[in-house]
Amino acid sequence: MVRRSIVAGIGAYLPDRVVTNAELAERIDTSDEWIQERSGIQQRHIVADGEMTSDLATAAAQRALAAAGLEPDDIGIIVVATSTPDETFPATATVVQSKLGCANGSMGFDVQAVCSGFVFALATADNFIKVGQADTALVIGAETFSKILDWEDRSTCVLFGDGAGAVVLKAGEGDGSNADRGILSTHLHSDGRLHDLLYVDGGPSSTGQVGHLRMEGREVFKHAVTKMSAVTIEALEATGLKADEIDWFVPHQANRRIIDGTARKLGITGERVVVTIDQHANTSAASIPLALSVAVEDKRIQEGNLVLLEAMGGGLTWGSGIVRW
Ligand code: UT7
Repeated sequence: MVRRSIVAGIGAYLPDRVVTNAELAERIDTSDEWIQERSGIQQRHIVADGEMTSDLATAAAQRALAAAGLEPDDIGIIVVATSTPDETFPATATVVQSKLGCANGSMGFDVQAVCSGFVFALATADNFIKVGQADTALVIGAETFSKILDWEDRSTCVLFGDGAGAVVLKAGEGDGSNADRGILSTHLHSDGRLHDLLYVDGGPSSTGQVGHLRMEGREVFKHAVTKMSAVTIEALEATGLKADEIDWFVPHQANRRIIDGTARKLGITGERVVVTIDQHANTSAASIPLALSVAVEDKRIQEGNLVLLEAMGGGLTWGSGIVRW
């Protein structure tokens, strides 16, 4: 028998305020047509004044806990994937722990892998569960990218949005085969030489300011399709699964053309691909749990389904995972 991390509940939260492409076009030199054609984005949610990453994360976590039928103190580890923490320190996970009302002294920390953050956090929590250091985990992707955008830079500011998603993992037992429920395989990579393609031009030990997101869009695009295809193939090969056995492909939502290109390379047809970029834009570490939540809510993803996740982000970082829901 082997220990498995089984998804016991999922929840998401989006800020109330919706900003359409047309609204952005009133403020900067862009158009709804350009944004939709180049990225597939129609709208994004943006936080209200005073609404912080920990608020979004806490709301998503409360919904995930309710779906799992668990109380905050039942959780053994909280991992928050974010590049937009409330403060430089402490970790947003500890703020969430406090806002949830956890009093059990369990561990909480953040994982920083930008848009790949949720996959990195999921793999981290899975490993804590597999070695027996935790029996339950809350894995959250939460971002307020609106706070680090240069709203004068039309090549980046139209692409991102705010939001949060969370999953509860519970330890279970399996026979080690692909028939087990839970996380079957995760694969993580980084290449720091590609820093200049996507970064924030500030931080505590450099400028002392938060800084703004900078991106070489076209270059990132090329890396995205090749790296995300390669890392999904790596996951399929590691598990011995074939692309046509995957029920749902839930990629990071950065660009509709990247999603379609990656799915095409894998031979996964459109009706098995979960797409939310049109409604949420790129919410970085929150995009995968938000997309999962939509597909669970509308009953596309059912217990027992095989779900393939992948992402790439600043660093560069990239990763994939296969989960039997
Ligand atoms: O999640 C992290 C990973 N991030 C990504 O995966 C993003 C990857 N990159 C992309 O999604 C795409 O490269 C973009 C959506 C950012 C851009 O699409 P593109 O097809 O690569 O366009 P481009 O950067 O080559 O720009 C094409 C033109 C340029 O004008 P010229 O030089 O051809 O005259 C830009 O100045 O579009 C112009 N442009 C805009 N026009 C209207 C750039 N931004 C805008 C805008 N509105 N917002």
